[in-house]
Amino acid sequence: MRIAIGSDHRGHNIRPKIVSLLKNMGHEVIDVGTFSQSPVDYPDIAEAVARKVSSGEADRGILFCGTGLGMCIAANKVPGIRAVPCHDDLTAEMSRRHNDANVLCLSADLLGERVITRIVEVWLNTPFEGGRHARRVEKIASIEQELNARCCPSEPKTLPPGSSCDAKPQKD
Ligand code: RB5
Repeated sequence: MRIAIGSDHRGHNIRPKIVSLLKNMGHEVIDVGTFSQSPVDYPDIAEAVARKVSSGEADRGILFCGTGLGMCIAANKVPGIRAVPCHDDLTAEMSRRHNDANVLCLSADLLGERVITRIVEVWLNTPFEGGRHARRVEKIASIEQELNARCCPSEPKTLPPGSSCDAKPQKD
C-alpha cells in the first residue's frame, strides 16, 4: 500500500520508527513531516496527509500528535476521510472491519512504541467486512456529499477555506 504519514512536534520521535516499520512491511511511504522538533500546528499536517488519501495519491494515512485527537478532528474535515483515534488492538481492528477507516490517528504521548507498532500492524492487516457495514459507511459518504453539494453546488467535493455548510451558496 501507499501510506501517507505525518506528525506534529509531539510525534516527531516516534514517526521515523513507524516509517521504518512500514517500509519493512513492504509499504510505500509518503512522509510529510514534520522534520524538526519545532512546534507546528497539527491541522496543517493532518490536512497534508488527509488530502493525499482523499485524492488517491495514498491508500491510507497515519497521523501522530500528543493525543491523536486534534489530528483526527482535522483529518475528518477532508472529504472522503474516515479518520479514527485508536488506542489498542481492538479499536484498530474494529475501525477497519466495521468503519473502513482510511486514516489512523495515534497518541505519541500516551502510547508506547510496542503498542503503537501493534496497532499499526493490526490496522493495516485487517480488511473491511463490507455487507451491512458498507451500507453504513455509504450513509456517512451521503451526509458529506449532501452537505457539500448544498454548500458548493459547482464543486461538490471542495469546501472553500473557512466556509461552513450554513454559508450562503457562492454566486459565481
Ligand atoms: C500540541 O501541544 C498538542 O495539542 C497536539 O499534539 C495534539 O495533542 C492535539 O490534539
